[in-house]
Amino acid sequence: MGLMGKQDNIFEDGNLSGLPFSFNQEVTEVFEDMIDRSVPGYRTSLNIIRYLSQQHYQKNTNCYDIGCSLGASSAAILSGAKSSHVIAIDNSEAMINECKKRFKTQIDSKHIEFKTEDIMHSNLENASVVVINYVIQFLDLDQRDNLFNKIFKSLLPGGILILSEKIHFDNRFETNRVFKTHHRFKSANGYSDMEIASKRDSLDGVLITEREKDHIKRATNSGFSRVEKILSNLNFRTYKFIK
Ligand SMILES: C[S@@+](CC[C@H](N)C(=O)[O-])C[C@H]1O[C@@H](n2cnc3c(N)ncnc32)[C@H](O)[C@@H]1O
Repeated sequence: MGLMGKQDNIFEDGNLSGLPFSFNQEVTEVFEDMIDRSVPGYRTSLNIIRYLSQQHYQKNTNCYDIGCSLGASSAAILSGAKSSHVIAIDNSEAMINECKKRFKTQIDSKHIEFKTEDIMHSNLENASVVVINYVIQFLDLDQRDNLFNKIFKSLLPGGILILSEKIHFDNRFETNRVFKTHHRFKSANGYSDMEIASKRDSLDGVLITEREKDHIKRATNSGFSRVEKILSNLNFRTYKFIK
């Protein structure tokens, strides 16, 4: 997938606004470049979503892309499961407005619909594939279990949840070691130390990571019977949970 947006230089001169990070218009315009240069394995996660959607989509069911941003995961679902109906949800108006322009053809042909909604209020049903790609980390900690319970209930037997997240580790030495390598990854992708530090400050309290075992426990507690780790790139993970 080619990059359609602008280059991310939001934090080039520091966090000028001093505001916490949000998925506003400014971020929307550079989002593809930002996520591609910040998340190791991001493009691979999209490819995996395509393969798994092809494999697990059940006819006449819904696929959900929760926290869709610019719809990269939605596009991956659609290219894997060609006859699927995708419901893509995000509470950022800027993101959804851009999606509505980019996916006009697929919206008109009823392959996809976009909803500006807080996912905690969304109604999910008749699902065979649910994707939540780097989104849980932005929810309040006390909302996460409820969302998982809701996703589990919405899935048909054999349905899957694909989850990608940034994580931290049990021990702070490991967290720091991986953190340093992730810093190098971002430097190699053209971010200065100043940009990396300013973005980290603006994400403080907004992006709240958990440990691998917290994610797995939440999935099994909500009822998922099978857990597969699909990707592991530094401090980023992708899992497949099967109902
Ligand atoms: C890192 S982005 C997701 C990237 C996207 N899934 C992809 O694969 O390209 C996180 C998204 O989650 C959305 N989000 C965060 N909290 C949300 C909520 N409570 N309800 C709906 N969307 C939410 C943000 O607006 C943002 O667009």
